[in-house]
Amino acid sequence: MAVDAGRTGRPTLAVVGATGAVGSVMLQILSQHADIWGEIRLIASSRSVGRKLAVRGEEVEVVALSEEALDGVDVAMFDVPDEVAERWAPVAAAKGAVVVDNSGAFRMDPEVPLVVPEVNPHAARRRPRGIIANPNCTTLSMIVALGALHAEFGLRELVVSSYQAVSGAGRAGVETLRRQLSLVAGTELGTHPGDVRRAVGDDTGPFPEPVALNVVPWAGSLREDGWSSEEMKVRDESRKILGLPALPVAVTCVRVPVVTTHSLTVHARFESEVTVDKAREILATAPGVVLFDDPAAGEFPTPADAVGTDPTWVGRVRRALDDPTALELFVCGDNLRKGSALNTAQIAELVAAELMGRGGV
Ligand SMILES: NC(=O)c1ccc[n+]([C@@H]2O[C@H](COP(=O)([O-])OP(=O)(O)OC[C@H]3O[C@@H](n4cnc5c(N)ncnc54)[C@H](OP(=O)(O)O)[C@@H]3O)[C@@H](O)[C@H]2O)c1
Repeated sequence: MAVDAGRTGRPTLAVVGATGAVGSVMLQILSQHADIWGEIRLIASSRSVGRKLAVRGEEVEVVALSEEALDGVDVAMFDVPDEVAERWAPVAAAKGAVVVDNSGAFRMDPEVPLVVPEVNPHAARRRPRGIIANPNCTTLSMIVALGALHAEFGLRELVVSSYQAVSGAGRAGVETLRRQLSLVAGTELGTHPGDVRRAVGDDTGPFPEPVALNVVPWAGSLREDGWSSEEMKVRDESRKILGLPALPVAVTCVRVPVVTTHSLTVHARFESEVTVDKAREILATAPGVVLFDDPAAGEFPTPADAVGTDPTWVGRVRRALDDPTALELFVCGDNLRKGSALNTAQIAELVAAELMGRGGV
């Protein structure tokens, strides 16, 4: 194991993609969590070489991704586009690092575990390719609450609609919304067909339509029969994490003009009759979940309040009117914290504990 002079015997961590939307939140989390790491090496593309970023109160210079940059790394977090992870994660693993990958490159590989520490921490120990995958942000924003309900009631079906924040599309998504908002703020736009589109222009960034003053029923790329890649990820990844390969899942992913924090409506059907009281008891005590559910007092989660926090927020808990085996929920989760960086950090901490011989799971 590589060691850093001041932190002898501790694992060396590489953050690949340290300059991105996820990477930036990762550096905050690493600064807030218990300091278990030796060296923390910050890696990005050659565009960012020499930039200095703060982590653990120290300025660290960014280096370019290369074989050399991965020398002596024990745990490598990959917060980079799919194609970069696909090429470089196996290189890091071959050099002896345990990779925790945030991209979509390996999530459905049967030799790569897909891990949510509150739901399936044991899966992190079996990693034949030396790679552990982090689920996508939409799945992660709901799966901790669903995992807790599944453990008690036995999940049988999921029907989900997402209300996804623009930072799910990285820095470019945030820049696009902010630019569009500046063009429509203080106007009377939003009253005639196409007026918002004309105001924001043809460059809609990573989105197919204007996102300011709008709701866009699309996230990701086109898959078979009109489904989007994001919808397929929610279905496939929920099944894999929960160990329910045949779970019926229907998903519609929608982009909304929120900077950060994904919301979802969830219709979850279980093995037998459920009660709201029992569901509330489970959610109120589940690690990583906050039950915030008192509509009479105007209390339910919203992205504006959940952003920047760690838990999965759950409100509007109801039993389905026409099915006593089903629950309706509204869930909010910060897509850059639990939805990506936090979950990756938690997995990396499990691995570090294992490497240090303390047994993490
Ligand atoms: N945003 C979310 O909510 C979210 C949630 C879960 C998972 N993810 C996944 O996490 C990954 C990163 O997403 P993001 O939103 O943080 O994207 P982003 O803001 O666009 O950042 C991309 C990062 O990757 C680096 N990078 C790009 N090309 C590279 C190359 N050829 N070599 C080395 N580094 C390279 C960039 O470095 P430079 O600054 O030098 O270009 C930057 O640090 C993606 O796979 C994404 O799907 C994102």
